[in-house]
Amino acid sequence: MKNILVTGGAGFIGSNFVHLMLERGGFERLINLDALTYAGNLDNLSDIENDPRYTFVKGDIRDAELIASLFVQYEIDTVVNFAAESHVDRSITDPLSFVSTNVVGTQTLLDAAKNHWKVDPTDKYSNQYKPGVKYLQVSTDEVYGALGREGMFRETTPLSPNSPYSASKASADLMVRAYHNTFGLPCNITRCSNNYGPYQFPEKLIPLMINNAKAGKSLPVYGDGMQIRDWLHVKDHCAAIATVLEKGVDGEIYNIGGNNEKANIYIVKLILETLGKGEELITHVKDRPGHDRRYAIDNTKITTQLGWAPAYTFEEGIAETIQWYLSHQEWMDKILSGDYQNYYERMYKNA
Ligand code: NAD
Ligand code: DAU
Repeated sequence: MKNILVTGGAGFIGSNFVHLMLERGGFERLINLDALTYAGNLDNLSDIENDPRYTFVKGDIRDAELIASLFVQYEIDTVVNFAAESHVDRSITDPLSFVSTNVVGTQTLLDAAKNHWKVDPTDKYSNQYKPGVKYLQVSTDEVYGALGREGMFRETTPLSPNSPYSASKASADLMVRAYHNTFGLPCNITRCSNNYGPYQFPEKLIPLMINNAKAGKSLPVYGDGMQIRDWLHVKDHCAAIATVLEKGVDGEIYNIGGNNEKANIYIVKLILETLGKGEELITHVKDRPGHDRRYAIDNTKITTQLGWAPAYTFEEGIAETIQWYLSHQEWMDKILSGDYQNYYERMYKNA
């Protein structure tokens, strides 16, 4: 791993990953390609922007010409694709942008990797690649669909996505699989559960609820609030991705999760309690259409085969995260002063 192309590195998980990689080292250059959509935020990276190993490029993963030029200019040998439309609720109102970025964008990156890394790109029968190259697709547990009370997602669980978001991520995963099986592209797919931690855009449950509770606004809990998510600190997710880059076996899928199943209502009440606010702020609103009831990740493969384990307990991670949002009000205010209020109005007005 010499020159890494990180896509979507100005978003929540991508920016945490950029921080982690610059801390860890072990490469020459990290290129962060990000289109700076509503979710991309260069403030997330202001502390490292002058690091000589780091270069930011504003651009789109669907721009084949730009991607090709980056591969040549920076001699990219590793790709970590975080770039995506990532919010389930937005995928319900605008599915096409999810197909476009998540599926077409992934295919564009895969093509660039194949064309630049194959020893003889003109020979369709050859599966010979330059040594040490790797494409890593950051996917999600949502591709497996929803669980009932029992069971966990394993890497062998059939794909059964329920939202336009998860369907687009599952489609992208299938493209990665196809590029591995047809063209021999060295790649991995990681499928992680829900992340929490610093720099998450406040459309997502935890920062949204912290923000509303702090402002004394109502907390919109979908349906009965008994949906279960399996929470993992974002730094643990990023460390798992670094582990897969280092030790992952080509063509393999790795589930990532920390065995932290919590009902949404539990998280919301915990936030209220930490902020010293009353539960009267909770408002049960209309449920999300197609809302997955429960996710749970079986992390046996990555823990036993690659030796990764989460470092955070949920209790310390969530306490630290709540404090982070409380002490980064300026970061939040900048987001709130943009299009966020319009989004919020549109999203919650009929709920
Ligand atoms: P995010 O929405 O915070 O960030 C996405 C980033 O991608 C933004 O910086 C955005 O500007 C950029 N982007 C969007 N479209 C782009 C395009 N066409 N070209 C270039 N850049 C583009 O998302 P996140 O929560 O950080 O998620 C990152 C990845 O991890 C996604 O692929 C998501 O599916 C996956 N994932 C997220 C979670 C989670 O809990 N958030 C869990 C598992 C997997
Ligand atoms: O499981 C991994 C996925 O986790 C990622 O692939 C997605 O990119 C990421 O957005 C996240 O998806 P969720 O839909 O689980 O996350 P979200 O924060 O939107 O919602 C978490 C739960 O909280 C979910 O059951 C819906 C509920 N919720 C969410 C919001 C925004 C509410 O009850 N009220 C809300 O206002």
